[in-house]
Amino acid sequence: VKDGNGVKGLLDLGLSEVPERYIQPEQERIKKVGTRRHDVPPIDLSKLKGPDHKKVVDEIVRAAETLGFFQVVNHGVPFEVLESLKDSAHKFFSLSPEEKCLFCPGVSPSSKVKYGTSFVPEKEKALEWKDYISMGYTNDEDALQYWPNQCKEVALDYLKLSSKMVREIVEILIENLGVKLEESRIEGIIGMKMVNMNYYPACPDPELTVGVGRHSDMGTMTVLLQDGIGGLYVKLDEDNNNNDGEWVEIPPIHGALVINIGDTIQILSNGKYKSAEHRVRTTNSESRVSIPVFTAPKPTEKIGPLEELVKKDGVAYYREVVFQDYMNNFFANAHHGKKSLDFAK
Ligand code: SIN
Ligand code: FE2
Repeated sequence: VKDGNGVKGLLDLGLSEVPERYIQPEQERIKKVGTRRHDVPPIDLSKLKGPDHKKVVDEIVRAAETLGFFQVVNHGVPFEVLESLKDSAHKFFSLSPEEKCLFCPGVSPSSKVKYGTSFVPEKEKALEWKDYISMGYTNDEDALQYWPNQCKEVALDYLKLSSKMVREIVEILIENLGVKLEESRIEGIIGMKMVNMNYYPACPDPELTVGVGRHSDMGTMTVLLQDGIGGLYVKLDEDNNNNDGEWVEIPPIHGALVINIGDTIQILSNGKYKSAEHRVRTTNSESRVSIPVFTAPKPTEKIGPLEELVKKDGVAYYREVVFQDYMNNFFANAHHGKKSLDFAK
């Protein structure tokens, strides 16, 4: 963010056309016309406690095995927290360039807190139409000291409240594989946390740009709050009768959270659960915000297909990697579909 104000800064200058460096090649552009919405009812997590437990577990497992994305309600994050998150994201991004750039790399008081634009700009042929603030979690004290005042309290609440659900879902998925993991191993698999606030300014020509390019998430699981604007597209899995590579939109559902499986779970499950390829379309009417909590393994954690599964499957589709190395590779490249998984092949 050299000028300190990202994509938003360009628009504040009164821009009416998409600058050259944001124009995507034809094959990366996102068509809205003809895209189906993935209209399935959100999964009610409160029913995990009760007579429908088995049914809800089946819904989660089925979603993880097929699309790799699903939505949840009664997830333990109160409605007021969700509303306050969206408000605080808008508050942060409407700060002056100077105020936001207090969190620019090299200036930010913590290496875990970063204000930026696009994804890996120095590697990208065309930039993504997105500004963001990343808030890595180490402990509460640091979060309250180093995260931006506009959002630190609510972001920390969100991280903690959603973490309970993440653990529960990860445990359900692992148990369904017929594997029993020790407490310390589970901790290792969900040991790193980060909250991001993404800001996609209204774009003069959404047909030419992407908010986020095609990618899968590197970590264990992502919980995402999106506002009512829409634009999150997910690719149907190839072995799910999707020969023409159809994309579907994950429609905004008021009060719901979106969950998606990351590369780590795909690797651990030896390919049984899907880390879906997804991307974001921009809009020309309003600025969209989305707020993900990323849960990933501790950097020192070794990630490979679970031993029991390799025995059962007779083959390991991935090698074992140290998560830090996986992460370094992920951030050394532009978004490029599911290629991040090749690092573990
Ligand atoms: C992402 O997957 O990087 C962002 C998702 C979204 O903004 O909906
Ligand atoms: Fe993502």
